[in-house]
Amino acid sequence: MELIQSANKSNAKFYDIAYSLVKGEDVTSQEIKLIESLIKDKDSRILDVGAGTGRHLFPLINSGYKVDAIEESIEMINEIKRKTNKFNDIKVFNWSFLEKNNQVKEKYDLIVLMWNAIFEIAHIKYELTELFKKLKSLLAVGGKILINIDDLRNIDPAMTGHVLIKEENGKKYEMNWKVLNYNQETKLLESLESFSVVDLKTQKVLQTSKGSIYQTWWGLDDIQEEADEIGLSISVRSISLNEELYLVLR
Ligand SMILES: C[S@@+](CC[C@H](N)C(=O)[O-])C[C@H]1O[C@@H](n2cnc3c(N)ncnc32)[C@H](O)[C@@H]1O
Repeated sequence: MELIQSANKSNAKFYDIAYSLVKGEDVTSQEIKLIESLIKDKDSRILDVGAGTGRHLFPLINSGYKVDAIEESIEMINEIKRKTNKFNDIKVFNWSFLEKNNQVKEKYDLIVLMWNAIFEIAHIKYELTELFKKLKSLLAVGGKILINIDDLRNIDPAMTGHVLIKEENGKKYEMNWKVLNYNQETKLLESLESFSVVDLKTQKVLQTSKGSIYQTWWGLDDIQEEADEIGLSISVRSISLNEELYLVLR
């Protein structure tokens, strides 16, 4: 049997291509505006959990916020490193969020978990409860949490497979997201994410890469239950460019 690595490791070098294809710059900039509207004081501290390659981290730092990040994949962190010569000024914790050795000592005015990050961090109910307890423990007095997820009420996870193509600098990047299995009961989705890079002139395949992704597609009701448990209320926000949920807990 072929053992397939986590896509967050093997495909980290293609993550910027992935989000440019799936999200696009306009969605990211609407998300940044939403985050900024939640936290106007630039001295406030933000924590980006499951930060990927810094899709929100860099724009927020450039806007003047103090932002720290947590990311489980060292390969994603290496991509963050590659993009800046000020990496030493940014606190990026290479930590799997539910692991016991709590590395983060600060408290934050806003914690963001964007693009279904919670689907990857918590796979079973016990982990979801632990995730919310931990988030609460990292919040400063009056702090907020922003959770961005796809909305199970208007999307069928089993049908999320897609092939997306981008041509850039003489190369064709093909991204293939294939659903391998979706369990309606547990909401666990198993998928395979593959990339190939082809030289447009010679049509030669320059690189291929693939990895697996496991997500549990938590719904608004699951998150409501956890928010009640830690004594936070939820308001549902949106952006105009998609139908995803942007849940603000306070
Ligand atoms: C879909 S990506 C979202 C990245 C980023 N938030 C964005 O919006 O572009 C999910 C990220 O969560 C990270 N991740 C998954 N499980 C994690 C965990 N237990 N602790 C920290 N990060 C985790 C993955 O490595 C991946 O970079």
